[in-house]
Amino acid sequence: MRILRTVAEMRAARREAIASPVLLGLVPTMGALHAGHVSLVRAARAECAAVVASIFVNPTQFGPNEDFSRYPRTFDDDCAQLEAEGVDLLFAPAVEEMYPRGPRTLVEVEQIGDKLDGMTRPGHFVGVATVVAKLFHIVGPDRAYFGQKDAAQVAVLRAMVEDLNFPLELVVCPTVRDADGLALSSRNRYLTAEEREQARAIPGALLRIPAGLSVEQLRAWLRKRLDQTPGLRLEYAEVVDPRTLQPVTDLRGGALVAVSVQVGRTRLIDNVLLESER
Ligand code: PAF
Repeated sequence: MRILRTVAEMRAARREAIASPVLLGLVPTMGALHAGHVSLVRAARAECAAVVASIFVNPTQFGPNEDFSRYPRTFDDDCAQLEAEGVDLLFAPAVEEMYPRGPRTLVEVEQIGDKLDGMTRPGHFVGVATVVAKLFHIVGPDRAYFGQKDAAQVAVLRAMVEDLNFPLELVVCPTVRDADGLALSSRNRYLTAEEREQARAIPGALLRIPAGLSVEQLRAWLRKRLDQTPGLRLEYAEVVDPRTLQPVTDLRGGALVAVSVQVGRTRLIDNVLLESER
């Protein structure tokens, strides 16, 4: 696996990689890789002739009081995992390489970027859309792979790809969970043993939603299950259309049920997609 640190190197390597007409897959990450990221790499590997991964802890998607400085950085372990999974190129730029003049031109997906995490983390999705747009321009992938765990991110990026005519396909892979159901996240490593135990209530609720509830009953049920679990503080429990993130009033057409929960100092998100009845 070749590691590329500058935009110029990445672009030259891309030209070489696509010298023969093949699909190029991109797996954007912030590092601290886990089996969820590996599943994205494997999906890309299965479909594309060349796979690029990126590791960049993007400062513009963190709020001033968030965990940018303490976000786990495990570069050597990450490289070993990517190498073992057959990744061809790793783009790992420094902050100055990505934002040499600071974050000046920003990408904002209106109407979607302020929903769910965009509501509780103002500006978060402007940072995500901006960095992902830059990665798409730098790497030029045919397919880009993201996890369903970040359902709001997926909705924002889908809209961005559509609105800005990026010539690529966004591929969404299922959430990977630990044996106890907790969705894998780089932030799970912040949890103490006690918090880890308390966090099990999140999949405990989402994966056991009773049938036959109205939207209001479902929201109340989630609030009761999650807010009343010791150690957990519910930030939001939303029942929305997975593409627009607008609230739905009826579950029969399917819905995204998404929650954000504060566990100690750690914020965890998770979701499930309810199938349409038709
Ligand atoms: O999902 C992530 O890890 C990040 O939000 C992403 C897409 C790599 C952009 O920084």
